Amino acid sequence: MTTPLLELRNLHVEADGAAILRGVDLVVNAGEVHALMGPNGAGKSTLANVIMGHPGYVITEGSLRFQGEDIANWTPDERARAGVFLAFQYPESISGVSVVQFLRQAIASCKGLDELSILEVRLDLMEWMDRLGMDPAFAERHLNEGFSGGERKRNEVLQMALLAPALALLDETDSGLDIDALRIVARGVRTVRDEHPDMGVLVVTHYVKLLEEIKPDRVHVLIDGRIDTSGDASLAQTIEERGYDELRRPVGL
Ligand SMILES: Nc1ncnc2c1ncn2[C@@H]1O[C@H](COP(=O)(O)OP(=O)(O)OP(=O)(O)O)[C@@H](O)[C@H]1O
Ligand SMILES: [Mg+2]
Repeated sequence: MTTPLLELRNLHVEADGAAILRGVDLVVNAGEVHALMGPNGAGKSTLANVIMGHPGYVITEGSLRFQGEDIANWTPDERARAGVFLAFQYPESISGVSVVQFLRQAIASCKGLDELSILEVRLDLMEWMDRLGMDPAFAERHLNEGFSGGERKRNEVLQMALLAPALALLDETDSGLDIDALRIVARGVRTVRDEHPDMGVLVVTHYVKLLEEIKPDRVHVLIDGRIDTSGDASLAQTIEERGYDELRRPVGL
């Protein structure tokens, strides 16, 4: 048997003293795309944050393994360098930094490099923007100048494409995404995966439409801090039709 890329066993997580995840089991193998769905407040973002090592979240029980190693005590930097990626949410206070400059910093910090040629990053970036059907002017946009939810997503997808991590975690932005932004994300995940077939992806989303295009190998539903149901891509459709309430109750009860 091959070692899973990501393996969570009975994971319990607290934030601010409150139990949020209460025994999550999840295995993502290299090359697989998994989707995580579930009602607001179920703990989806908490799960993404704890995999990344966000200091606000404490593992109280269970294990978190990446490529066979227990990474629970690794710093976020160590995880990023090992190939775990959650799109950086840039602080609002950054000003005057363009997308291309920001990506250069993000790549350098993930790869543990001090310097990275701006020319190289720019060429790579232009190629990816072309493949993903993005307007080249986006590279010159300044991060602080009122990025919409969709623009943040484009920035995230570009980070994923340029970093080519072993495991990419994509969490939804707070604001709704329009159909173009959904397409960028779906196309981004598919195109980047095609180029890196061993990459594992965990997409957190409420959008069934997105999953129709991404075609995940597995869909999981997180309810009250536990994975309640898992299934193939058709599970997303069932949820769309029936909502989460029905899943909570076993049929016949
Ligand atoms: N740092 C924190 N401190 C205290 N409570 C937190 C913290 N982070 C998350 N929570 C709480 O944990 C629960 C799960 O939050 P989380 O953001 O993981 O949900 P979610 O499934 O991502 O929801 P959504 O679909 O709305 O994005 C919520 O009740 C939230 O208020
Ligand atoms: Mg969330």
